[in-house]
Amino acid sequence: MAERIVSLIDADTIAARVRELGKQIAEDYKGRNLVLVCVLKGSFVFTADLARAIESSTMRIEFLGVRSYGEGTSTSGVVQITQDLSRPIEGEDILIVEDIIDTGLTIAHLLDLFRTRKPASIKVCALLHKPARTRIEVPIDYLGFTIEDRFVIGYGLDWGEKYRNLESISVVESQ
Ligand code: PRP
Repeated sequence: MAERIVSLIDADTIAARVRELGKQIAEDYKGRNLVLVCVLKGSFVFTADLARAIESSTMRIEFLGVRSYGEGTSTSGVVQITQDLSRPIEGEDILIVEDIIDTGLTIAHLLDLFRTRKPASIKVCALLHKPARTRIEVPIDYLGFTIEDRFVIGYGLDWGEKYRNLESISVVESQ
């Protein structure tokens, strides 16, 4: 059966929302030690755009490599750190940037992990949230869009490691 890729949230809509989030974050973190933590790989595109939408001369950006082990397409919540942050975060204001929160297991694990490092604060910014698949409730302090339970690709999100470079957030439809 043939498949076609259909845009769900187009590039202009994403850009407008990212600008709003960036403005809000800049206001909320004025005068503080903001560190964006980009959770690889999915959030590399979102983080790149969000970082440029946050007006700040002191913000740092860190990258965290994670690998989730699970039953096929869904995460088990057991997250292996494949690349840790380059510096300690004690006393800093951490904003974890995720492309998508699905079951919530990954972000719950990361919140537990980072809390042990004694940051001044820790919050979550996610571009997408799929409430239908929630297995653990996690606070989402900044959210781009709530979406239905559909498999989405593009803007950093992959389908078998491909399609991360699509400009829009898209769905795969069978024809
Ligand atoms: C995705 C996404 C989150 C996680 C969310 O990563 O980037 O880290 O899944 O799912 P959860 O809420 O059910 O835990 P993925 O494992 O697809 O890896 P990738 O970012 O490298 O594509």
